[in-house]
Amino acid sequence: MGYAKVRSVALHGVAGEVIVVEADVAPGLPSLVVSGLPDAALSEARDRVRAAVHNSGAHWPQARITVNLLPAHVRKHGSGFDAAVAIAVLAAGADLPIARLMNTVILGELGLDGTVRPVRGVLPAVLAASRAGYRFALVPLGNISEARLVPDIDVRATDSLGRIIGYLHETENLLDPVAEPLPPQAPALDLADVLGQERGRRAIELAAAGRHHVAMFGPPGAGKTMLAARLPGVLPPLNDQEAIEVTALHSVAGALMPGSGLIRRAPLQAPHHTASVASLVGGGSGLAKPGAISLAHNGVLFLDECAEFASGALEALRQPLEEGEVRLRRAQGETVYPARTQLVLAANPCPCAKPGGKHMCECPSIVRRRYQARLSGPLMDRVDLQVDLDPVRSAALVATEPVEPTAVVAGRVLRARAAAIERWGPHAASNGEVPGTLLRHHRFRLPRPVVRPLTDAMDRGRLSARGFDRAIRVAWTVADLEGRERPDVGDVREALELRSRTAR
Ligand SMILES: Nc1ncnc2c1ncn2[C@@H]1O[C@H](COP(=O)(O)OP(=O)(O)O)[C@@H](O)[C@H]1O
Ligand SMILES: [Mg+2]
Ligand SMILES: [Zn+2]
Repeated sequence: MGYAKVRSVALHGVAGEVIVVEADVAPGLPSLVVSGLPDAALSEARDRVRAAVHNSGAHWPQARITVNLLPAHVRKHGSGFDAAVAIAVLAAGADLPIARLMNTVILGELGLDGTVRPVRGVLPAVLAASRAGYRFALVPLGNISEARLVPDIDVRATDSLGRIIGYLHETENLLDPVAEPLPPQAPALDLADVLGQERGRRAIELAAAGRHHVAMFGPPGAGKTMLAARLPGVLPPLNDQEAIEVTALHSVAGALMPGSGLIRRAPLQAPHHTASVASLVGGGSGLAKPGAISLAHNGVLFLDECAEFASGALEALRQPLEEGEVRLRRAQGETVYPARTQLVLAANPCPCAKPGGKHMCECPSIVRRRYQARLSGPLMDRVDLQVDLDPVRSAALVATEPVEPTAVVAGRVLRARAAAIERWGPHAASNGEVPGTLLRHHRFRLPRPVVRPLTDAMDRGRLSARGFDRAIRVAWTVADLEGRERPDVGDVREALELRSRTAR
């Protein structure tokens, strides 16, 4: 009979907090009460923990057991506390010595047979423990490689509850497997594969340099999907902070490959047009799973055949895109995930999707108009780059001139990004994120002759005020790529020309 406590980590979103798991074992009718705001999964944990203890050959105290998770106000989701609960109960009631767990957090779900199973979110959990000053983390074997990505904390693993018990009795060792060498990362798809299609290649370069959302319209086979898949390779590699954020989100989603390192390349997510709102923005019971928009944090969200997405799905993306984060409101409170992503939209200009483009289309105009309407709306309003792609010309496919590879384009993109960061300072991280008010601030307002192509287009009713701002943003990116201090009239003309299709 007695009292014991150990540490684990609770996650809210990608933020972790070290919690105390305490157990008290008192004489009385055998029972187990778990308190401390546990969610449904935690009450299920009672039976799981008891069975796991039995099946590990340990003795479950026949007494009145109280388990408490502190602090009480922290929401606790999921099954990652099982192992900590089992150890606290055994230490309080069965004289399991836990001196060796000083300064240690314990993570892991128990199977009924006493195995310790991997859990989601180990990277952010161990990160929180390290930041809180803990020196050791005991994690499921299947999670050890992601736990080891965290600096300044010693990580050990276990495959079973029995092994932890053996370790505490000093009859067994924890697991510390030699790290497998990282599998070589598949090279990014190269822009050199895309022949001809100068407009498309230019749109991808501008999108990368200015962090602009981009929409590509064109017949099947024009290379839209090919181009979108090559954007991450053109984007700057993630810095340490970004890499941790992205890897943590993938960890919480349970989407990390075992043995993979930090995610260093801008991620690409390409949800199918039948994807549910929950899979796009996140959701689910227990610890909510990040959706595609958060898995694309610091990267690219590619909506192929975007006209086919349900309007509710597109609508659900709008606010997160604007705020750079997703707020998932649920009964137990709100979970926030980062979602700073760049949209790439692709669509056929018409529902018939004739390979020859508009020349072969025989759709009634009402059908065309209804389809076009689906390609406009509030989401499209935020897309700075909207380009029409022609079918690839046969000449391009047999041409022998070398095509510029990703490495060369990415170099220009890096320099352009640096110029923009220096110019906007703390006000915006990229041209695509500059608010309209800043564009018109006297320091950055472009002289009348420079914006003449835009004012002319507006006067002729071919450009809206929103379209005006979007073109100016793109013009800054054109100038940054050219190494020019400010956009000139040629840059503005290119920006306008690149959105000739939907001159709204
Ligand atoms: N510009 C291009 N250069 C080289 N191959 C291309 C090009 N455009 C299309 N292709 C070929 O056609 C296939 C389909 O292209 P894809 O990107 O899927 O077109 P879309 O998404 O516009 O329908 C590609 O896998 C590639 O083999
Ligand atoms: Mg395609
Ligand atoms: Zn058609």
